[in-house]
Amino acid sequence: MNPVSELIKNLADQHGRNRHNLLPILQGVVEQEKYLSEFSMIEIARELDLPASEVFGTATFYSFLEYKKMGKYIIRICKTITCSMKGKNQILMAIEDMLKIHVGETTPDGNFSLLQTNCLGFCHKAPAMLVNNEVYTDLTPEKVREILSSYLKKQKEEMV
Ligand code: FES
Repeated sequence: MNPVSELIKNLADQHGRNRHNLLPILQGVVEQEKYLSEFSMIEIARELDLPASEVFGTATFYSFLEYKKMGKYIIRICKTITCSMKGKNQILMAIEDMLKIHVGETTPDGNFSLLQTNCLGFCHKAPAMLVNNEVYTDLTPEKVREILSSYLKKQKEEMV
């Protein structure tokens, strides 16, 4: 069996094969593969018995649709209205400043990619972001700097 097909099968076994399990499965594939290929989407659709267009639509909505390899940590900042009104731009600026990349870019060491996404469902705790599939809420520029520092530290420790 193709390793991607096997991964998708395992994720579907783990999360279930209902429509509402689509998101964790997409996240699982992106986490392992660092991007979501057309092949993966078709495999997910087949495994969950969903139309490929639905998988594609969900992936697009959450900006999981990356055709290029992403960094080890993929940061997705919510760009939808509540987060925007609650200071998403300051959060974004703090991240860009710290990692020296802009939205859509990956750090030269391949550790971090920065993206924007639609509402993550945490509007009551806006602004919110995902780092891989970890959710961070009630963000402030200080809080986001602390979060990134902990990832940078983890990264350094792994290199030793
Ligand atoms: S608007 Fe950002 S989490 Fe809903």
